[in-house]
Amino acid sequence: MRARTTAAAAITTALSLSLSACAATDAGSRGTASIGITMPTKVSPRWIADGENMVDELKGFGYSTTLRYADNDPETQVTQVEAMIADGVDALVIASVDGRAFKDVLSKAKSANIPVISYDRLILGSDAVDYYATFDNVKVGQQQADFLVEQLGLVNGSRKGPFTVEVFAGSADDNNTRFFYEAAMRVLQPYVRNGDLIIRSGEQELEKITTLRWDGVVAEKRMNSLLDSHYTNHNLDAVLSPYDGMSLGIIKALKKHGYGVPGKPLPIVTGQDAEIPSIKSIMDGEQSQTVYKDTRQLALVTSYMVNSVVHGNKPAINDTRTYNNGTKVIPTYLIDPVSVDKGNYKEILLDSGYFKKSDLE
Ligand code: GAL
Repeated sequence: MRARTTAAAAITTALSLSLSACAATDAGSRGTASIGITMPTKVSPRWIADGENMVDELKGFGYSTTLRYADNDPETQVTQVEAMIADGVDALVIASVDGRAFKDVLSKAKSANIPVISYDRLILGSDAVDYYATFDNVKVGQQQADFLVEQLGLVNGSRKGPFTVEVFAGSADDNNTRFFYEAAMRVLQPYVRNGDLIIRSGEQELEKITTLRWDGVVAEKRMNSLLDSHYTNHNLDAVLSPYDGMSLGIIKALKKHGYGVPGKPLPIVTGQDAEIPSIKSIMDGEQSQTVYKDTRQLALVTSYMVNSVVHGNKPAINDTRTYNNGTKVIPTYLIDPVSVDKGNYKEILLDSGYFKKSDLE
């Protein structure tokens, strides 16, 4: 699952052209440079792969690594970063649980001249963040909502509304949540305004629909209560879900309420991350869509960034305006996400070598 794809190889080429990729051991007189990595949780398969990929890529550069998982607990993660700074790591790579939790600890990193890279999720409120590597989070939200309105037939006019929809968002402490939500709502809003889409619960403000720590059980509970309160006499046609783990919880609630049988098909349910349980659900005709984010590419881009900053060089970036963390715009490298459904999962996920056929059995 971690072999390099053609796309990743193309990124490697692009990055190598713009960087001088010196060996890590040249970094200083202290021998092998060491990199501290912290990832949010092992609950979700994607972060396990992210951690493994980062370690592999950095090893390829000759770095030693310390990889920690934070059990989705902001305090634990801050403590991990503190320990890494005390150990004298040469750079930090942080995929944050709570993007706002790092202001104090990272001022210590800054004083110690330790470069900081935000991985996938932007760290907010700290001017110690040097670079950000992520996927195009605006495109992720767009792809989810585009899929939803296309499948309902609203785009080419093949079907007329009104259709019912409910909207879910990710964790309030994750900066990505707002990006996914706002991009998706820009697509959905015109249909809500003209009455083609009806949110029967009326819950569409971000504050009302977030899901703490992206937890599938929290999403399942909210879906149960929405169905009990607003859909006893109405059918639900679509659910905007921002993440696979939540989508599966939502589908569980829907099935409990009688959806998923011939007379009452499941609504369209979106997702994100192309996690194996969700791909299997797509193959079974339950979850409708996910957004594939090749974590191998993200690890590759980030490890090139690390190697550049450790050597005092400027890494390759392709966005200098989108991600203001409250102190400054953080120079960013954005990777394209890909919308995946029953029609293209084989081509996108199997032919690219991201998954083996046996992973999906
Ligand atoms: C977001 C990330 C998504 C998904 C989600 C839940 O920050 O961008 O891809 O993984 O967290 O883990």
